[in-house]
Amino acid sequence: MTQHPDDKEPFYFAQRARFMDQLNLAAVGSAVSVSRHFIRLTLSKWHAKSIEGDATLVVSELVTNAVKMTGVLDRQPTWMELETLSLVTVRMIGLDTSVVIEVWDTSQQMPVLQKPDDDTEGGRGLLLVEETAKNWGSYRTPRGKLVWAEIPVPEAVPSVLPQRRKSARSNVRPAARADPWLLRSLLIGLQAI
Ligand SMILES: Nc1ncnc2c1ncn2[C@@H]1O[C@H](COP(=O)(O)OP(=O)(O)OP(=O)(O)O)[C@@H](O)[C@H]1O
Ligand SMILES: [Mg+2]
Repeated sequence: MTQHPDDKEPFYFAQRARFMDQLNLAAVGSAVSVSRHFIRLTLSKWHAKSIEGDATLVVSELVTNAVKMTGVLDRQPTWMELETLSLVTVRMIGLDTSVVIEVWDTSQQMPVLQKPDDDTEGGRGLLLVEETAKNWGSYRTPRGKLVWAEIPVPEAVPSVLPQRRKSARSNVRPAARADPWLLRSLLIGLQAI
């Protein structure tokens, strides 16, 4: 069997991920804005907010494409459409000096970079991704495919996730309420010994 270029594993599969986070979504229009929130929140946790603009633009284009191909972009899907929705998964992978954004969908049709002229409507999403990301590509999976884009982080991704500050009270058990009746019974018992 000849190997299709889309079957070649993305370069980062061989690398050690420092951080990883994943969000599973139904393939509906709101997945686009939810995935942008996910990106912002995760970059903030990873102290890599400087790439927020590029990363949200890339995820918007990739998730919109995934929903367009496998789900319902319409604002008000019908019940029938909702019952048979596919999943779209967004995964973020923190490497040493970049963040990879992956969007998985259930279609085996692969993305194709367009060359739209001024009069052509559409066909610009992947061009934007190409301009914004350092690398991008797609990879066929047994049940669909993933489209990925790598965004460099100017200041290297921190090597250790920031520690959550321990609250001064976090290890303190809630104080047991003294039960006067029990205390009195104990006292009487002790006096009787
Ligand atoms: N997730 C995907 N699954 C299948 N085909 C895709 C996917 N993403 C993109 N494609 C294909 O690649 C083409 C180019 O995608 P691109 O995002 O550049 O343009 P568009 O989605 O058609 O228009 P625009 O993004 O400007 O609204 C699409 O028309 C589609 O045929
Ligand atoms: Mg598009």
